[in-house]
Amino acid sequence: MVGAGAVCAWSWGGPVVGPVSPYTARVSISPPNKGDRPLVEPDDRKPVTLRTIRSMAGRGVPFACLTAYDATTARWLERGGVHVLLVGDTAAEMVLGFARTTDMPLELAIALTAAVKRGAPRTLVMADMPFGSYHESDEQAVRNAARFMTEGLADVVKLEADASFATTVERLTRAGVPVCGHVGCRPQTVAVSGGYRIAGRTAADARRVVADAVALERAGAVLLLVEAVPDEVTAAIMAATTVPLIGIGAGPACHGQVLVVQDLLGMTDSPPRFAQAVAELGSAVREAASTWVRRVGERDIGGRRYVMDEGEAERLGIQSRPTDESVGDGGDGGDGGDGGDGGGGGGKGGDGPASEPMDQTGRADGQRPIE
Ligand code: KIV
Repeated sequence: MVGAGAVCAWSWGGPVVGPVSPYTARVSISPPNKGDRPLVEPDDRKPVTLRTIRSMAGRGVPFACLTAYDATTARWLERGGVHVLLVGDTAAEMVLGFARTTDMPLELAIALTAAVKRGAPRTLVMADMPFGSYHESDEQAVRNAARFMTEGLADVVKLEADASFATTVERLTRAGVPVCGHVGCRPQTVAVSGGYRIAGRTAADARRVVADAVALERAGAVLLLVEAVPDEVTAAIMAATTVPLIGIGAGPACHGQVLVVQDLLGMTDSPPRFAQAVAELGSAVREAASTWVRRVGERDIGGRRYVMDEGEAERLGIQSRPTDESVGDGGDGGDGGDGGDGGGGGGKGGDGPASEPMDQTGRADGQRPIE
């Protein structure tokens, strides 16, 4: 097993040596607990696998899924104990700013999936196969699903599918690709259905959704996901199938629950009715941004500054800053700089500690080298 703080090349099956694809992960295992994190320490948890998810579902213990599209967010979601991260094609909306999920590019979806796995190596990562990436033929589906697993480091791929995709799921399963079948409301088909619709409102439609789920399970799906259905339809699916069922807008009974992470964090302007935010990160980001705007205007940029070697500033013909010159401590910002002297960053800041040389990487935590 890879120890805390270590970096290794990773592939499903564990660390690998030798040439890797452009996307193959350099997995950063989270740094050790510095005593400021919760007692339940997810950094130390065992990797969540399909077996974990099956076991939780079998014991009636709900598992938590969220979407993620980048390594940093994924790292924090793993630290929070989330079991499954879905690199959804909602990235088209949340990351790229499109209005529809059908605009998600395959190459980017693969790259984002690998990023999420690098950020959360102990979490089951599920990749959404984008619109058009599995519809042409079973061969196309196998080829692209294999890319999600090798280049994208995905543990499972998800297909929005009805019963007519059973042969595709069968083919993928035979090829060794774990599949999650997404039934109910299927956003990739909204151009045909005319918009986002709750599925299973009528008995006939409910029967169709259940039949889709059953057909996909029979074809080999290891997980099912159902979107936007009344609780009764969820109950009927659970009665007719045996694999773990993840719900979104499908009531509390599902084995697992997923939400788009921006909906949970309070970052979307019009979240769906089933998504209740538990944080107000949108407002927090706006507040932080306006603080930064104000502080930049006041030349109160905080942090620590670089210093020249002893005597070098004089050799350059510039008077060296006094070593006890303050650089601001990120305090209240109210006593920010005096506007500086316009001479190469020599302006005075707030009342923080004296300038200190940074470590080799340019950051105290050594995480992101700055040349
Ligand atoms: O793409 C996605 O994020 C999804 C969830 C909404 C289930 O499929």
